[in-house]
Amino acid sequence: MHFSETTPTREQLDNVSPQDLRAFYAAKASINPNLSTPSLPPTIPRVFADTVAHEGETTAVMAVSEYQGILQNFFVGFIGAKRILEVGTFTGSSAIFFANALKRNGVAGGPDANGNKPIISLDISEEYANIARKNFVDAGVEDYIEVIVGDARKSLASLEGQTFDIVFLDADKPSYKCYYDTAIEKNIISKNGLIIADNTAFDFVTPYLGISAPVADDAKPLDVSFDAFKGLPSIARAPGLGKAIHEFNEYIRHDPRTEAVLIPLFTGTTFIRILKD
Ligand SMILES: C[S@@+](CC[C@H](N)C(=O)[O-])C[C@H]1O[C@@H](n2cnc3c(N)ncnc32)[C@H](O)[C@@H]1O
Repeated sequence: MHFSETTPTREQLDNVSPQDLRAFYAAKASINPNLSTPSLPPTIPRVFADTVAHEGETTAVMAVSEYQGILQNFFVGFIGAKRILEVGTFTGSSAIFFANALKRNGVAGGPDANGNKPIISLDISEEYANIARKNFVDAGVEDYIEVIVGDARKSLASLEGQTFDIVFLDADKPSYKCYYDTAIEKNIISKNGLIIADNTAFDFVTPYLGISAPVADDAKPLDVSFDAFKGLPSIARAPGLGKAIHEFNEYIRHDPRTEAVLIPLFTGTTFIRILKD
């Protein structure tokens, strides 16, 4: 099946093979990044290539796509972000995008008066944190990013007292609601800030491709054993993942504290702003 000419129908997508699904994602992500400003950070292609080589293609798909990274960078400039909190470092791609955007917008690297760098990134894996730290040095952005290793549920709560203009949620999906509530309730996200939640159409992506939000009240996530996802990382196939994302989407859709838009970008990205009191 080739997706390049028309938007696939729900029936076509129900029969898609893992290879075709990846080709579809690749086609969506293959818009020449040089057509946009801000531009692609120069070391990103190498970080992607190394991640594929060392982690394997199916795990490497966890890295933020080029197009999403560029869009997020645009928002960094648009809201004048100075501090960013990332939940889910992996090999460092999204943090490098963010650091590049802060640089571009005149934010200095290095610790502030309280000893904190402009970006704090949380990951449970020491191994990924170490790979990311090397990639930050290669990208010349090590002064911008501090990685804290540990379960982000605990790390995030320990950040009470610090404020960020962007909070990017990209770790374990079942914890998104906890991360979101903690960020709002502990004032970790600034009142003018932006929460970005990644992969919010993952796993039950097909209903979102041809149907615009809001999701129907009776919408159900697809079965996580859906064939098209068999080639994707285990996290994408974890039991209950689709349900967890669906519940998160529904939670924020009914949350009077915020306003959110789910963009069908790669596996879905939700941009959430805090409504004023
Ligand atoms: C989708 S990847 C992040 C991708 C990264 N933002 C990028 O663009 O390259 C998810 C990461 O979340 C981490 N993770 C999973 N569960 C976690 C938890 N409970 N606390 C902190 N990190 C977690 C994983 O180790 C993994 O590196």
